[in-house]
Amino acid sequence: MINLEKICAASCKIIQEVGEFIKGELGKVSEQAIEKKYLNNLVSYVDKTAETQLVSGFKQLLPEAGFIAEEGASSDEENDYRWIIDPLDGTTNFLHQLPFFAISVALQYKQETILGIVYEVSRQELFYAWKNGGAFLNGKTIQVSTTQEMEDALLATGFPYYDFEHIDNYLAMIKPLMLHTRGLRRMGSAALDLVYVASGRFDAYFEYSLSPWDVAAGALIVQEAGGKVGDFSGGNDYLFGREIVAGNPNIYLGIIQRTLQYFKSKKP
Ligand code: IPD
Ligand code: CA
Ligand code: CA
Repeated sequence: MINLEKICAASCKIIQEVGEFIKGELGKVSEQAIEKKYLNNLVSYVDKTAETQLVSGFKQLLPEAGFIAEEGASSDEENDYRWIIDPLDGTTNFLHQLPFFAISVALQYKQETILGIVYEVSRQELFYAWKNGGAFLNGKTIQVSTTQEMEDALLATGFPYYDFEHIDNYLAMIKPLMLHTRGLRRMGSAALDLVYVASGRFDAYFEYSLSPWDVAAGALIVQEAGGKVGDFSGGNDYLFGREIVAGNPNIYLGIIQRTLQYFKSKKP
């Protein structure tokens, strides 16, 4: 087994260097350089170049590992180790010069996530965790919040913007949350929403239609910070299942009761 602490430190260095590249391109991407992958799903050379740089760095670091990455890097062979990479999470924010975007990188061993790193480029905040090692922000231990009551909770979510299949369930669910919490934020980066839960800034977060690269790293960081992560039924299918709830243990349960009620038509 590899030394996770060492791999984490080396990966953080690679990620911070790529972060410098991304930061240097902020405000420089012209309209013509923006492609639409599909409805409201934007990409530019910044996402693609960042991915190429990350993949090349991780290939050197761990030659035996494969890849799943948002902009297409992948490996055909079966590998015990694999990286799951979102080179730029929050692309729409980045392209609109809103400072909330990140690099998200997870490492799996035999399909279990063993390392997660999320780097908030603008604030130079590096969130990371490895399996059974705790969770950290720039070298300091982080923990989820201790908020007990929904009334005192600040929640994060992602509004549907291309997959409108469950929009009615979603809108029905957020009305009571708007009425009975401290508020809801739609920041625009799932990876950062998750690590903000891990560091206690948000009490819980939920969203549907996500991909593994959006959540793999952040989910481990939440768990290592003492939080809970699940799908809308409270099960474990949040990585490939396209729905996620994360939170401190109390508020997580409150959100799961509501996802069950509004999305799975089960009585809370
Ligand atoms: C997106 C962001 C956003 C979430 C989307 C993701 P991208 O990732 O995390 O907050 O609502 O569903 O796809 O496209 O910027 O990497
Ligand atoms: Ca993403
Ligand atoms: Ca992305």
